[in-house]
Amino acid sequence: MKILFVCLGNICRSPMAEFVMKKMVAEAGKSGEFLIDSAGTCEEEIGNPVYPPARRKLEAYGIDCTGKTARQMQKGDYERYDLLIGMDAGNLSAMRRICGGDPLGKMRLLMDYTGRPGNVADPWFTRDFDTAWKDIQEGCEGLFTALEKGAGRA
Ligand code: 4NP
Repeated sequence: MKILFVCLGNICRSPMAEFVMKKMVAEAGKSGEFLIDSAGTCEEEIGNPVYPPARRKLEAYGIDCTGKTARQMQKGDYERYDLLIGMDAGNLSAMRRICGGDPLGKMRLLMDYTGRPGNVADPWFTRDFDTAWKDIQEGCEGLFTALEKGAGRA
């Protein structure tokens, strides 16, 4: 299963989702079955490391994201991944624009995997990394459960 998490800058939300999901999969002993990555829809942050408050949040949970630098989502990512998961509705429309639509139904919002669908709160604007972290944690848990049930793409 190849999963790409997508946000706007690829320095806050999607890297948090990438590393949280990698940890979940590793703890389940399933790293070999997954390829997990993240990207942003804008150019602003290309090459930049994970934003310090997001990095500190990951570190508090024992996750090291050293070496991750932001990249922009490319049209070719649509073929490369099974699931492309946006953090908010704006991301989803940008993802569709970059890829020329979603003909194979591979695109989702992370919070669709929870009991409260909608957007992951954007900490870049709210400065509230705790709420974003909770959303991402809950979304990744829901996604992992859905994949375990073979329903990740349902
Ligand atoms: P992210 O947060 O999309 O969660 O990585 C943002 C990072 C940078 C910008 C916006 C959101 N920006 O406008 O540069």
